[in-house]
Amino acid sequence: MAMTVVFGVDIGGSGIKGAPVDLESGELTEERYKVLTPHPASPEAVVGAVCEVVQHFGHQGPVGLTFPGVVVDGHTRTAANVAQGWIGLDAEGLFQQALDLSCTVLNDADAAGLAEVTYGAGREQDGVVLVLTFGTGIGSGLFVDGTLVPNTELGHLELRGKDAERRASSAAKERHDLTWPEWAIRVDEYLDLVDRLFSPRLIVIGGGVSRKHDKFLPLLKQREARVVPARLLNDAGIVGAAMAAAKAT
Ligand code: BGC
Repeated sequence: MAMTVVFGVDIGGSGIKGAPVDLESGELTEERYKVLTPHPASPEAVVGAVCEVVQHFGHQGPVGLTFPGVVVDGHTRTAANVAQGWIGLDAEGLFQQALDLSCTVLNDADAAGLAEVTYGAGREQDGVVLVLTFGTGIGSGLFVDGTLVPNTELGHLELRGKDAERRASSAAKERHDLTWPEWAIRVDEYLDLVDRLFSPRLIVIGGGVSRKHDKFLPLLKQREARVVPARLLNDAGIVGAAMAAAKAT
């Protein structure tokens, strides 16, 4: 029988959230449970928090987890916004050992993208689709006819001599106390850049700030690509993580 309910965990800069996901509908089957991300977000501390989330549901069975950095074959390779101890770590093995369950780890924006192209704003869109998450950093999920090109890391493209996410993430909006119109100018500059490089047909704007899309999407300039808000909002990472775990088992 196909596995339809799988557990997803989203490891973010402020919270670690998890829930069982129904993969038929892409919906959570129970209200998600969240604990604050420990600071510093060292591997040991994060593993402890993840165990708390998974055990809250008494979950048994495969678990998918997101990570806010490059992940190749379950190993975390970069850590722009979490403790440096993650670099070069066998994260999948670490979670697996702590939870005693089969685990799959993937990049957070890749997970959010998988959920959006399957159940949300990118459904049935062929060609190049770019899912961008605006939060502490800028995450990117690049899809070609529904297939993910993992770990694109487009938040680290150079914009005005800086890492783009330092100028245009939603954390940058807070840090520099930018108004919505001021921030929208920076987002537009960033979208110009990715547009020039990838000519996507559709750009899906996700991350925490997508809840407030009415405040800034109307301020963005018209472009060839359609620019739309994410539909799964804050659940996209959890859903995408569960999808990846189901695929791996
Ligand atoms: C990381 C990406 C991540 C993004 C959003 C960036 O700083 O390098 O891997 O997807 O933040 O969390």
